[in-house]
Order: sequence, then structure tokens, then C-alpha cells
Amino acid sequence: MRTPKKERISLGRSVTSSDDANDEYEMFAKYYDIWYEDFTDDVEFYKQMAEATGGPVLECMCGTGRVLVPLAKEGLEIAGFDLSYAMLDKLTVKLEMLDEESQKRVHIGHADIRDFVCDRKFKLIIIPFNSFLHLLETDDQEAALKNAVDHLEEDGRLIMSIFNPKLDRPENVVRHRGTRVMKHGEIISRFESQTFDHVNQSTTTTYFFDISRQDKELRRVTTTTTLRYIFHKEAIELMSRCGLEVVDTFGDYMQGPFGSKSEIMVMVARKSR
Ligand SMILES: C[S@@+](CC[C@H](N)C(=O)[O-])C[C@H]1O[C@@H](n2cnc3c(N)ncnc32)[C@H](O)[C@@H]1O
Repeated sequence: MRTPKKERISLGRSVTSSDDANDEYEMFAKYYDIWYEDFTDDVEFYKQMAEATGGPVLECMCGTGRVLVPLAKEGLEIAGFDLSYAMLDKLTVKLEMLDEESQKRVHIGHADIRDFVCDRKFKLIIIPFNSFLHLLETDDQEAALKNAVDHLEEDGRLIMSIFNPKLDRPENVVRHRGTRVMKHGEIISRFESQTFDHVNQSTTTTYFFDISRQDKELRRVTTTTTLRYIFHKEAIELMSRCGLEVVDTFGDYMQGPFGSKSEIMVMVARKSR
């Protein structure tokens, strides 16, 4: 684990881009929205939660703003940060297209969840879409959650959504995950294959993007991501060590019950009393 720097993030209307050789999402950023912009199942859920807690909302690891932008459009005051300049560049472009009033409600910054410091506290902190699983070591997970708790209002809520581990998934099977035809004529097919390291509770996915155009040769872009999978009880205990009490776990974004067969676990926590 790195020694936390406790750098203050300056949340503003945009982030000044910078090169970062360690940016895990550098390659993915270009394709992220093509594949995930249509995934909106969780947006309504976070909106309802934000209406229940009141704002302001903080989205940790906000990426290209898949969740943050629609919440801002709904009139919520929301801040977000991410470690990837490439992802934040995409978000900045989207924010520039918002109306002036929505723009005033959004603040974004470049930061690491393990050591961000922000001048204000939040009623709702969200960590959507498996982002938390990017933290591979327990020390990193604890640093991130303790840091988030420091930014949570006394009566606030923290929500984390992660997949429910399935240990029998096949390894090294290349699966076609879909094809998109872009406006400018490119056809992009996405393939994925997964490996597991069950000793370290991690899974590495290799993404292959095959890009073709009638007048050009086929091009393949490859990128990998490793996630640390976490079991439900483990997550409850982790949160408890970090000053959080889990008050609900849902098995979907309609707030259905969580069970062993659920695909995801959506955990809602408050500060321990
Ligand atoms: C799966 S994407 C999710 C983005 C967005 N929250 C969404 O729901 O679409 C995970 C994001 O976590 C970011 N990330 C990974 N490690 C991080 C860290 N230590 N601190 C902050 N952001 C991080 C990545 O750059 C990426 O944008």
C-alpha cells in the first residue's frame, strides 16, 4: 500500500488533463461510454437514495460521469472524483454540454479514493459499479472506506455496489460481448476473457476491441483490468472495521432482497453508532 499523501482535491467545473503512465483506464476511456452509457439501471436507484438523504452527493471513482451527469441533470448537487485523467476528460466534455444551472451544481476533481481530502461533508457517498473492487489490498480498501467515512455527514449514507462472486465461472473463454456501429462508420466488437486468482481473491479480465471500417484494416485494441472480489460477510466486516454499519443489502437496483444467487450486492451503510 502507498503511504497516504492526504492531498486536498480541488473540486471545480473541470479537470486539467495530464499524462499519467499508470492510468489503468487510459485505453478503456475511449470505449467506456460506447459500452456502458446505456446501462442506466442504477441511476434511478441513486437518484431515489439522494432524494431520501438529501444532498450534497459525492460519487467516488466517478469515471466518465455515467451516474454523476444524470444526477446533476435531476437537480442534485453532486461532486465526483476519479484517478483517471482519461476518464475525467470524457466527463469534462459532458459537463460543458450541461446548462449553466446544472453546471453550477457539479464539482469534479482528480484524486485517489484512498487519500482524497475535501473541505466539505456529504449526505450521500456512492461508489457504484464495482469501482471499489479496483482496490486490490485490504489496506487499500480500509484506507478508502475510512477516508470516505471522514467525509460523510453524521446522518448520511454510503452506498457501494459490487458483484456477488461466483467461483465457478470458466477461465480463458473468449466471449463476444456485443458489436456497436458508430456514426462515422466504425464497427467495434468487444470480446472478453477472464482469469481468476482465488488465492488473492482477484479476477483479471482482458478486453479485446476489434475495430473495423470498410476502407481500413481490422485493428485490435487490448486492455486488462484486475478486480479484487469480496464476499458479502467480508464486506460487512470490512465496513464495520472502517466505522460503517450496513443497514441494507439489496440484490438489485429495484431494492430486491440479496441472496446467494444475486448477481450484485448493493450495500447501504451509515456511520457506526
Ligand atoms: C468501473 S469504472 C466506474 C466509473 C463510474 N463510477 C461508473 O459507474 O460508470 C471504475 C472507475 O474507478 C476509477 N478508479 C480506479 N481506482 C481508483 C482510485 N484508487 N481512486 C479513484 N478512482 C479510481 C477508474 O479510473 C474508473 O474510472
